[in-house]
Amino acid sequence: MIIDAILTPAEIDVLPQADLSASVCVVFDVLRATSSIITGLAHGAEEIRPVVSIEEALSARAQWPDAVLGGERFGDRIDGFDLGNSPLEYCRAGLRRIVTTTTNGTVTLQACASAREVWVGALLNMQALVDRLRQSGPERVLLVCAGTFRELALEDVLAAGMLAAAFPEATLTDAAQVALALYRQHQANLCAALELAKNGRVLRAHGRAEDVAWCAQVSRFPIVGVLRDGVIRRG
Ligand code: MLT
Repeated sequence: MIIDAILTPAEIDVLPQADLSASVCVVFDVLRATSSIITGLAHGAEEIRPVVSIEEALSARAQWPDAVLGGERFGDRIDGFDLGNSPLEYCRAGLRRIVTTTTNGTVTLQACASAREVWVGALLNMQALVDRLRQSGPERVLLVCAGTFRELALEDVLAAGMLAAAFPEATLTDAAQVALALYRQHQANLCAALELAKNGRVLRAHGRAEDVAWCAQVSRFPIVGVLRDGVIRRG
């Protein structure tokens, strides 16, 4: 198994032109998009459609009139949407279908659409990711760190490194080695690492410390979200 990593949004921009046909992409946007998606699936959401723009979300609801609209711009709920992007908003039953758009997370998921498989990764479902990778043993794994706006996000690289750490027998590219080294530096206190990250500091400064603590939980939910034909379902 070869494990590679995409660490920055600039690299994500060109993913739609890359040959991902042999790769399983695991997308991390720990604060907070992929954490919210995993939380929603864990509480009964059956189908989650990640879209790039607000307009796309509104038109997707035309196809799914029973769907709730979720997501954020600049961290806040979008006017007219039902939910923001706090994972705590997805801890409720009854959210059967969700359409979501976020700054980086949903864009990154879409950018990986041509991959052999696209999985939703977070700290919340880490053991489920490890188990599924061990079971399926793909030739190539691409750990895709969504970042924030145009910047690398420490928490995403940390989570990618945690997944890589579970496969000491794998061949890691330099980018994956960087992620592994970052994880090893912070593995003793992942919550502190998320609070150190820019996203963690910004969320806490905006009264969202609970979101950071929630997203820092490791292997809380034994599920993998799989994106197929534009829709995320429990894998
Ligand atoms: C993102 O998708 O960039 C983040 O999840 C944004 C957020 O949740 O504030």
